[in-house]
Amino acid sequence: MFLLTLVFRPRIRKGWRKFKTSESAAMAVAQESLGASRVVKAFGQEERRSKQLVSHYSDSLSAQLKVYVDSAVYNLLVGVVTSIGLAAVLYVGIRHVQANTLSLGALLVVNYYVTQLYSPLRNVGQKTLDIQLSLAGIERYHAVLDETPDVPEKPNARPLTRAKGKIVFQKVSFEYVKDHPVLDDVSFDLPAGSRLGIVGPTGSGKTTLSSLLVRFFDPTRGVVTLDDVDLRDYKLADLRNQFAVVLQDTVLFSASIAENIRFARPDASMEEVISAARAANAHDFIISLPEGYDTLVGERGMKLSGGERQRVSLARAFLKDAPVLILDEPTSALDVQSEALVLDAIERLMKGRTTMMIAHRASALRNCDTILRIENGKTAGLTGEVASVLKSMTPTPA
Ligand SMILES: Nc1ncnc2c1ncn2[C@@H]1O[C@H](COP(=O)(O)OP(=O)(O)OP(=O)(O)O)[C@@H](O)[C@H]1O
Ligand SMILES: [Mg+2]
Repeated sequence: MFLLTLVFRPRIRKGWRKFKTSESAAMAVAQESLGASRVVKAFGQEERRSKQLVSHYSDSLSAQLKVYVDSAVYNLLVGVVTSIGLAAVLYVGIRHVQANTLSLGALLVVNYYVTQLYSPLRNVGQKTLDIQLSLAGIERYHAVLDETPDVPEKPNARPLTRAKGKIVFQKVSFEYVKDHPVLDDVSFDLPAGSRLGIVGPTGSGKTTLSSLLVRFFDPTRGVVTLDDVDLRDYKLADLRNQFAVVLQDTVLFSASIAENIRFARPDASMEEVISAARAANAHDFIISLPEGYDTLVGERGMKLSGGERQRVSLARAFLKDAPVLILDEPTSALDVQSEALVLDAIERLMKGRTTMMIAHRASALRNCDTILRIENGKTAGLTGEVASVLKSMTPTPA
């Protein structure tokens, strides 16, 4: 029985491992399709996605079936081995009874003890297999956690309460994939409180610059500093607390508007939430909603327009009150009217903060004091002559 367990244990562990892996692949497809259900439908890909899902699940099902068959075979063999043992004991016992060296009562008692001994033994075998399932689960859990490549934090990292906001990129190069540089030797200085506009063609590396600043990645070469300290020397959570980020398209969680704004600072009072919303030009549209600040938004609630979502996102940024502001094309998805409301709020938000604003339209850049042009990951110009840069850009479509 010991031998059997030895043989079957790794087999069954491997089976569970395969099952867990294919199960997560299937879950990933399901989650992606549900999250992007409108895209899937708009492209008429429901059938194909659902076929993919079914094929992933049948993989996972067949993996599961295989482990069950293996376990059943193991149980059968264990049953056979124990029964043979029992039969042997009985046979020897009966021979002894026939030879009158053992009384029938004594044989029955021995038989009783032996069966008593077997059932815990069989249990031990079964439990060894059950443990394989849990171990495979733990393995998978660690594999998933280890997958997300996070930047390391130094053991004696510096704490940081509130930065002044001076940012320097020194000869920064970066590649996502080895030997495919996305940024090449980019340098610029942002004094505390200054406003940098970043322009450049699509794919030139603008968003990558902002990802380096919030330390989603570390530069391959060169240094990024905040208040003259290498970003890698700060505690990661403290560092990320210094930034308020507004992206092109804001995702709202399925929760009330107030909770969505409070996401920036869960302990904020209702008064603070409202004043942040006012500053972001969001208060008026929020109180016109059926339940005001308690209106449910996000996937399972009310759908807000792009401009409204951006203003909620700005309210978050006001509430967070971080010294550095990162805006990645905050108005490029908006028409001119809603852009005006958003830009007005952004202007207010920029006051007293270092700002990095990525934009395509001249209208969004008019409040910057320096413009950095990036082309193919290289600095193609850094100038304080904002007006002349804006003039050379395509005018905002009316
Ligand atoms: N996570 C990633 N892994 C690999 N390559 C990436 C990744 N993110 C971006 N890239 C590549 O890096 C380059 C720069 O991308 P980035 O997003 O910084 O461009 P961008 O200037 O912000 O463009 P856009 O104006 O379209 O937003 C692109 O060629 C892109 O394909
Ligand atoms: Mg981008």
